Amino acid sequence: MPLAVWPVGQRSAQYQRAGRYLPACTAHPGKMLPDLARRIVAEYSRPGQLVVDPMAGTGTTLVEAALAGRRAVGVELEARWAELARDNAEHVLGPDARRLVEVRRGDATKLAELLGPDAGRVDLVCTSPPYACDVGNLDTTNWGAGHNLCATGERNYSADKANLGHARGAAYEQAMAAIYAACLAVLRPGGILAVVTKNTRRKGRTLDLAGLTVALAEAAGFTYLQHVVALHAAIRGDDLVARPSFWQRTQTQKAAARGEAAHLVVHEDLCVFSAGPAQLASTTKEDPRAN
Ligand SMILES: C[S@@+](CC[C@H](N)C(=O)[O-])C[C@H]1O[C@@H](n2cnc3c(N)ncnc32)[C@H](O)[C@@H]1O
Repeated sequence: MPLAVWPVGQRSAQYQRAGRYLPACTAHPGKMLPDLARRIVAEYSRPGQLVVDPMAGTGTTLVEAALAGRRAVGVELEARWAELARDNAEHVLGPDARRLVEVRRGDATKLAELLGPDAGRVDLVCTSPPYACDVGNLDTTNWGAGHNLCATGERNYSADKANLGHARGAAYEQAMAAIYAACLAVLRPGGILAVVTKNTRRKGRTLDLAGLTVALAEAAGFTYLQHVVALHAAIRGDDLVARPSFWQRTQTQKAAARGEAAHLVVHEDLCVFSAGPAQLASTTKEDPRAN
């Protein structure tokens, strides 16, 4: 399996977003790093091609794809995030690039229906699944007063239990299997599925979400092409400098205090698949370092 390491955390997440994405994006707990989205788009698609994000959140994939001259369609279950994705595109993109982006509200399992005539013509699906995200909008004032850092209704992307952020175990696997099958159905033969996951830790145990993603995508009929370590820590000389969020730092400290083998997460896993036989070499046209 070809393995690559991409240093996409050389600039902080805040710096990557500053002046491009709306401040309202801070409310979304699981955004993709713009430098990672940009590199995925550059590596696995060409200008003029169609990029889809079936769980688009704040629209990072869509914005970066349109800035790179791709047409981009996003699907998002929550009205709140779908609207924010639209607003981001409106905010960042000029009129020409803005026309390249569409955001549709809906369930990713119904992707073919939602894409209509574009189903079967998608060149790249680039997404990050909602991985049992316990974190929500942080309320540090509340926390300072001895209450919860994050209101319960704010967790898992939404209070709506239909949001996959709430799904765990077999329910999560079943739903994601359906979404990967839906992705396969909309990709053209040889199209690429790029999934960004982060392994999580619960009660001292690691959830190998990357491994699970590979198993589910392969079971859906994808060919596993490449694994990329998307480094969130910055490389400074011979050192890796972690960039933990406030939430991650406090959770890691608490876990360590409980005696769990916890450490800061410094990378995400990008799992890359092909719809049908492998055709990776032919998709790369641009030098991503130029971005
Ligand atoms: C990890 S976030 C994606 C973040 C996005 N990449 C960004 O940069 O903002 C996953 C998203 O999937 C959405 N979601 C959850 N279940 C869904 C479903 N069944 N169909 C579509 N979207 C869903 C969540 O609301 C959440 O916004």
